[in-house]
Amino acid sequence: MAAVELDGIVRRFGDTTAVAEVSLATERNDFLVLLGPSGCGKTTLLRMIAGLLEPTEGRILVDGRDVTALPPRERDLAMVFQNYALYPHLSVERNLGFGLSVRRTGKEELRRRVDDVADLLDLGPLLRRRPKELSGGQRQRVALGRAMVREPEAFLMDEPLSNLDAKLRASTRTRLISLHRRLDTTFVYVTHDQIDAMTMATKVAVLDQGRIEQFGTPVDIYDRPATAFVAGFMGAPPMNLLPAELGTGPDSRLVLRAAGLELSLPHRGDPGVPDVLLGIRPEHLVPAADGELRGRVDIVENLGSEEVAEVLVGDARVSVRGPRPLELTPGAAATFTVRAEHIHLFGRQSGRRLTWEPAPAPALVS
Ligand SMILES: Nc1ncnc2c1ncn2[C@@H]1O[C@H](COP(=O)(O)OP(=O)(O)O)[C@@H](O)[C@H]1O
Ligand SMILES: [Mg+2]
Repeated sequence: MAAVELDGIVRRFGDTTAVAEVSLATERNDFLVLLGPSGCGKTTLLRMIAGLLEPTEGRILVDGRDVTALPPRERDLAMVFQNYALYPHLSVERNLGFGLSVRRTGKEELRRRVDDVADLLDLGPLLRRRPKELSGGQRQRVALGRAMVREPEAFLMDEPLSNLDAKLRASTRTRLISLHRRLDTTFVYVTHDQIDAMTMATKVAVLDQGRIEQFGTPVDIYDRPATAFVAGFMGAPPMNLLPAELGTGPDSRLVLRAAGLELSLPHRGDPGVPDVLLGIRPEHLVPAADGELRGRVDIVENLGSEEVAEVLVGDARVSVRGPRPLELTPGAAATFTVRAEHIHLFGRQSGRRLTWEPAPAPALVS
């Protein structure tokens, strides 16, 4: 049975449609990441799951139970906010126990759960402190701990790592992954950070303008983006997207052409949609003497173990990423090769991924 299920959820604020027809289902134990740019409707969606905001249309089910009309406290979900929302005048210990004491949990039970959570999150030495005596990362752990003592059906988290520096973000991600493994509970996690999604999620819903662009595993979404939007959102740097023409070559093979590139594809047949966006990930462009992409190197950035180069191909700017040194010189001409299985095509109008049937008689379908 689906742990959290959204069925045709719509939320309007006056003329603004913040969430437009979102449907998805998670399994128990999923770590679902709602991923998208600022303003795409992530927080609105999470607040509706929590019961803090009513959907304009649609239903929300938790463990098969319709909770759409239930107030937050009857949903058995715990929310962790971006700004932690700790009680400033209470110690860490009382912050952790607060949710249980208002529910009249017995003293011993409360003690046990607070100790368990403090143990799990390394909060033991901090129990007597007030929130203002904690670092950002420690406060974040208290906020998480406070949600955990309730042993909820699911955790809802809205950008919980966004106030942490890069190093703390990385270590807190690792902690969340191991917590998720141990707790056997659904997580619904909102972020604009694709690295959060790649590292922690079992399922990702990529949102744009209140709609789901793609729902799948992080690997699906990275390796087979359903739309040009998803392709351009995932990866650092993201997938290169170049306008190109799809035509046929002399041997009736499909050929992609644009200024500075001519790529022969291992498929024959009717190109169907001639105006496409060619997608190639930066790590799939390899410097090669007889490569199909010809350009001029603009910038080379050293990342330590790797380099990222910006290359001008026709009018387009293309990123190339690979182990250091890439042997590319700013200002010099360079050519690159790409393997056929690393070529992604999207309709230039529709933005949707183009797929084709395997040989012998391939036909492109938009
Ligand atoms: N209470 C509100 N009143 C009016 N518009 C809102 C309200 N809450 C959110 N919105 C609008 O809904 C859209 C989605 O917002 P939000 O869910 O906060 O996005 P995200 O969390 O992805 O950045 C935005 O255009 C935002 O301005
Ligand atoms: Mg938000």
